[in-house]
Amino acid sequence: MSTTAKTNEIPDRKLKPVQINNKSVKKYPWPIAFYRTSVGKKYAMAISGIVLLGFVLSHMVGNLKMYLGAQTFDHYAEFLREMGEPLFPRTVLLWGVRLVLIGAFIIHFHCAYALTMQNRRARKPADGYQSPRDYIAASFASRTMRWGGIIILLFLIWHLADLTWGWANPDFVRGEAYANVTASLQRIPVTILYIAANIALGFHIAHGAWSIFQSLGINNPKYNAARRIFARGFAAVIVLGNISFPIAIQLGIVG
Ligand code: HEM
Repeated sequence: MSTTAKTNEIPDRKLKPVQINNKSVKKYPWPIAFYRTSVGKKYAMAISGIVLLGFVLSHMVGNLKMYLGAQTFDHYAEFLREMGEPLFPRTVLLWGVRLVLIGAFIIHFHCAYALTMQNRRARKPADGYQSPRDYIAASFASRTMRWGGIIILLFLIWHLADLTWGWANPDFVRGEAYANVTASLQRIPVTILYIAANIALGFHIAHGAWSIFQSLGINNPKYNAARRIFARGFAAVIVLGNISFPIAIQLGIVG
């Protein structure tokens, strides 16, 4: 069969690019080909979301050590840098974890952006017909998810500048995690920022953790109640844990 014959079948050969209907079509390896589909992006969004949920939960649990005093908290912060020693040199394993997180963050954002653009394109039919996909895209939940995601990204940039790089914290001393966090959260505007950002994070998680099951095809309605309890419970644990820190610092319980 000629490569220029009229057919909708993609020839199974390793030529790059192949010719179909006189158009040049690139063949990608299957993980990339799958990622390029909207189902693939939903899977990628769900899996990267699970990685990020794992991070926010362990970060919140780790931060609870703040209640055990400066020594315990700084010891924990130092443990994160020494993790994996002597098998790995200092901070190498921490950098491995950071790279996984950065990768998950980029994939999560890219999928959100690409799916939003796809929904927007589908929303402009010439005949004015509004597709079910359009309805979902315009829904309150998906708008909240987009704005929530942007707020979390802005908060994260501020948070790193505040407690990791120290640019936004005049009292920052490298390696003194407890002193840094207590100095920062003693400032009222910073306290308000942390509380507001964590409430936005809570809404994002409550909807996102519910959607993970949908995206992975675990969507039998008989599990809806359990999914809702899981998603809202997870969000509540993160929000309550995280906003307890600025409040405890303001009240002088910590610091
Ligand atoms: C009130 C809530 C929070 C507190 C008290 C807090 C505290 C901290 C502290 C003290 C550090 C520096 C740790 C160190 O120097 O070893 C840190 C780093 C970090 N935090 Fe938070 N955090 C909070 C919420 C969040 C949230 C909601 C996110 C994500 C959305 C987040 C993401 C990060 C990241 C990515 C780092 C850098 C970790 C690294 O060194 O690689 N934090 N946080």
